[in-house]
Amino acid sequence: MTIDATLARLEEAIRLRRGPLCLAALATVADDRPQVRNVIIRDFSAAGLTLTFFCRSDDAKHREILANPQVELVVYAREPDCQIRLAGHACPVTDTTLLDGYWMQISQAARRDYVADSTSPANGRETLFAAIEIRIERIKILSFENDRWRLQERSL
Ligand SMILES: Cc1cc2nc3c(=O)[nH]c(=O)nc-3n(C[C@H](O)[C@H](O)[C@H](O)COP(=O)(O)O)c2cc1C
Repeated sequence: MTIDATLARLEEAIRLRRGPLCLAALATVADDRPQVRNVIIRDFSAAGLTLTFFCRSDDAKHREILANPQVELVVYAREPDCQIRLAGHACPVTDTTLLDGYWMQISQAARRDYVADSTSPANGRETLFAAIEIRIERIKILSFENDRWRLQERSL
């Protein structure tokens, strides 16, 4: 599969919000050490090469990104076996219209994750809700072909 076909596969999975490609392992840099954790990819544009995930503004990842915006994430799916590694520059979304749109995508139950005081109900867009946009600068696609991982790379 080409890089462009693989990115189209990722875009479709995120649009449908279905399948293993929606779950990424995200690496940040905390001081001089790597930190990795799972996040759900909420938006991905193959044409614009941007990717968005949600978090809380009091998360370690949010703090780490403000201190050092360099991140990398990886997703994996089978049939065909494929790893997609995307690295770039991460930044909190500040456009309130965009943030309101993202907030609307979150179910009532999941909105509780962004409430500062766990005893109060989730109402309007919670102050702890944050969306992080990654501007993708490097792409690595690994396809498992003929018993080995084949690497294709693109820098932008
Ligand atoms: C399947 C799965 C999906 C997750 N999705 C997210 C997510 O989209 N955003 C997020 O902030 N945390 C998500 N988490 C929780 C993070 O992995 C992490 O434990 C938490 O956000 C604290 O991370 P931090 O302290 O390193 O920032 C997810 C965890 C799992 C297991």
